[in-house]
Amino acid sequence: MSVWGGRLQRSCSRGADRDRQGALFMLTAAGVMMKTAFFSAKAYDRQSFGSALQQRQLAGFEMVWLEAGLNLETAVLASGCQAVCAFVNDDLSAPVVERLHALGVRMLALRSAGFNHVDLSACRRLGLAVARVPAYSPYAVAEHTVCLLLTLNRHVHRAWQRVRELNFSLDGLTGFDVHGKTVGVIGTGRIGTVFARIMTGFGASVLAYDPQPAVEVQSMPGVCLTSLEQLIEQSDIISLHCPLTEQTRHLIDAERLSRMKPGVILLNTSRGGLIDTKALIQSLKAGRLGGAGLDVYEEEEGIFFADLSERGLQDDVLARLLTFPNVLITSHQAFLTHEALHNIAARTLQSLLEFSAGQISAEARLV
Ligand code: NAI
Repeated sequence: MSVWGGRLQRSCSRGADRDRQGALFMLTAAGVMMKTAFFSAKAYDRQSFGSALQQRQLAGFEMVWLEAGLNLETAVLASGCQAVCAFVNDDLSAPVVERLHALGVRMLALRSAGFNHVDLSACRRLGLAVARVPAYSPYAVAEHTVCLLLTLNRHVHRAWQRVRELNFSLDGLTGFDVHGKTVGVIGTGRIGTVFARIMTGFGASVLAYDPQPAVEVQSMPGVCLTSLEQLIEQSDIISLHCPLTEQTRHLIDAERLSRMKPGVILLNTSRGGLIDTKALIQSLKAGRLGGAGLDVYEEEEGIFFADLSERGLQDDVLARLLTFPNVLITSHQAFLTHEALHNIAARTLQSLLEFSAGQISAEARLV
């Protein structure tokens, strides 16, 4: 017997059977066979999930590794699977989740913290369970944000290129001390809190804005909670760590960019849609911004994680952004540490296991 999507069903012993929706069931010594279509699979995913599966000896779990990203066309690849494992640029809009549901998929396991790419109300309507990885390493993302800041401020990306060409001149490479500066942190959840703590370690003063600030940040030495508008006007460095929602889309628009201090460094390792990219380009063209360090881009889907070096870039906005010497872009890699990958794999497998046992724990469950 196994609980499936909250419903108690009979499964045949050591064999395969099909339930009413056509989903494949198989009872093994380890329990119910859980077949999961793993979209946007990269080599590092196969490694981290492979070793997590081995460690737990989950004989009843099977991953179908798919290099393809998930969209309306590729959804069919999940045929015969009860679960889909998806990443940040996979399309989980209503038409896609409807197609997955029609194929017999009953659970979506997001291997990300953010879930702005999922139509949760459609999942709710269909009775599709959704789990995410609420926290896998806030340090990975916060440390990458620091990496963007220091690289940009001290022009390390340009210095590296120069020295390789035997140009040892320092012209144009002057930065500033982070010590003594004011750093604005928008969103003081797990990642924002770690980033704020690191910045206080540099000797910077932190201005933090969050409608629901984390308890830890409220009493952190060197951190002052403030309004968004004050933070925008007074910070030398601004870092975004809030989720992308309808309320936060284009939080950084032309008007707010115009009120920032001249020379401000803007950092975004959260979600691309938080910044109006066209307004950012105007601000960069006007020479108002000191720099922009971006790990995310609002139209990154289909670009980030892909090798386009042979095909070239179709996105003119991103192409323009890449022409500024004071813009540093990484392709959504802030999460990419061994520790984070290990934790993502462990939590995702845990959620799949919990789902097959009938109940995903509250910390990971979205629907
Ligand atoms: P979290 O849920 O712990 O914290 C988010 C915070 O933002 C909360 O305290 C919330 O109250 C606050 N917030 C909500 N609306 C706000 C607003 N309008 N203004 C200011 N703050 C607001 O999330 P966590 O783990 O810190 O992650 C933050 C974001 O980082 C995620 O939403 C995700 O988009 C992004 N992320 C990016 C990664 C990457 O590889 N680049 C990896 C992991 C997360």
